Amino acid sequence: MATQEEVFKKMVSHCKEYGFVFPSSDIYDGLAAVYDYGQMGVELKNNIKKYWWDSMVLLHENIVGIDAAIFMHPTTWKASGHVDAFNDPLIDNRDSKKRYRADVLIEEQIAKYDEKINKEVEKAAKKFGESFDAELFKSTNPRVQEHIQKREALHTRFAKALNDNNLDELKQIILDEGIVCPISGTKNWTDVRQFNLMFTTEMGSTADGSTKIYLRPETAQGIFVNYLNVQKTGRMRIPFGIAQIGKAFRNEIVARQFIFRMREFEQMEMQFFVRPGSEMEWFKHWKEFRLKWHKALGLGDEKYRFHDHEKLAHYANAATDIEFEMPFGFKEVEGIHSRTNFDLSQHAKYSGKKIEYFDPELNESYTPYVIETSIGVDRMFLSIMCGSYKEEQLEGGDSRVVLQLPPVLAPVKAAILPLVKKDGLPEKAREIMNSLKFDFKCVYDEKDSIGKRYRRQDAVGTPFCITVDHDTLNDNCVTVRYRDSMKQDRVKIDDLHALIDAQVNMKNLFRKLID
Ligand code: GAP
Repeated sequence: MATQEEVFKKMVSHCKEYGFVFPSSDIYDGLAAVYDYGQMGVELKNNIKKYWWDSMVLLHENIVGIDAAIFMHPTTWKASGHVDAFNDPLIDNRDSKKRYRADVLIEEQIAKYDEKINKEVEKAAKKFGESFDAELFKSTNPRVQEHIQKREALHTRFAKALNDNNLDELKQIILDEGIVCPISGTKNWTDVRQFNLMFTTEMGSTADGSTKIYLRPETAQGIFVNYLNVQKTGRMRIPFGIAQIGKAFRNEIVARQFIFRMREFEQMEMQFFVRPGSEMEWFKHWKEFRLKWHKALGLGDEKYRFHDHEKLAHYANAATDIEFEMPFGFKEVEGIHSRTNFDLSQHAKYSGKKIEYFDPELNESYTPYVIETSIGVDRMFLSIMCGSYKEEQLEGGDSRVVLQLPPVLAPVKAAILPLVKKDGLPEKAREIMNSLKFDFKCVYDEKDSIGKRYRRQDAVGTPFCITVDHDTLNDNCVTVRYRDSMKQDRVKIDDLHALIDAQVNMKNLFRKLID
């Protein structure tokens, strides 16, 4: 049985082999932590974006969208705090010359304790069988207790060091825990230093004097600086939201795990402006809504969990992550933050503009508070791929790789396959394709045996294969083969549209969200 790590590696290769994700500038051997989406990947990505956009802007009459520029006035980033505080603590290993995030090294150490605890529990569960009580075992077994205590002590010390911005203490934790460089295997660490993650570039010709500007590290600030424009021109009344999808850039110190941590990535962010004092209620509301959005995709409710932040960002009074169980553990896919009125107040201060809302019900003006939902498109893509990639052993010793993608997100909804390349079957198949292609992304394939063609579609996650055979010409029926069950049904051509639509129409998911 393959380990999770092996399966992950195969999934990454699969992404390249089937046109989902390529390394950027591949012919020049790629560019670290930058990726391109291929012909399948772009469809999946667009579907993810549509699912998010429509669930925000279509389903909520008080949420509107914008598309702000990537380049922004440099004062934006001074006001937001990014120039001074958008840092990661980095540490170098002198022997391997490799650079790491000090906080990530410690988080991985905490995860090791968790692994040890889980292993003990799994071993005992096997030994004691059905009568096993995991909670009782954890609270009484001396070895497990020792691991739990060490983990908790480390966790508390780490959280305090982060909160106090104590870089010496972070280094001391790394030394005390005996954390070694995975490459050199040594503990020959430098001091921990802060590293600003923003990319900079120059705007304007040098002769005229150029200005240093930043590539935005989050899309959110494009929303904040447009708050007044949108509120006034859209006559928006609080509570209301502004949604945006766009690229963001971060010069990540450690870019790893494929598209999990990239230097150029895409965010889907929504800032929801509320009355001061009501923010915790709205924070709760958006937490619940966003989790529902993820779970509606059907990858398994147990794969998601909330992770409340130990260390709050400088602008937040509450924050949580929605984590997904990737093959390398539960990882953040989305952040939900109660950002107070920090950003709008800062922009008011730095721009000298009055950024407020006159609340007709209260007959007073105030700076709105903000709840933010912020999800990375690429991370969402990765979670979907990880949750869908399956290697299955079939009866008769055969095997297949299948992407059990949520049908609404699948790049291709139906493949139209004439059994043979003659006898009028291709023409009939084209006719069916032409009737379906206005509503669903379809592909036509007549090459190789039908079995091989099914496998190709399984590998890219196509939910329906529609085979046209000689009988089709007489009975106007086709064989529909379902991706997950591999079952086959004879279906009237006239019923195909409804059959596919029932599975792939996003409306079905949207209904679940607002029930
Ligand atoms: N405006 C708030 C904000 O940007 P964040 O937690 O830094 O918050 C939000 O980022 C989301 O953006 C993350 O949950 C993640 O999905 C995505 N993200 C952040 N950095 C990323 C990176 N380097 N590569 C890919 N996705 C990233």
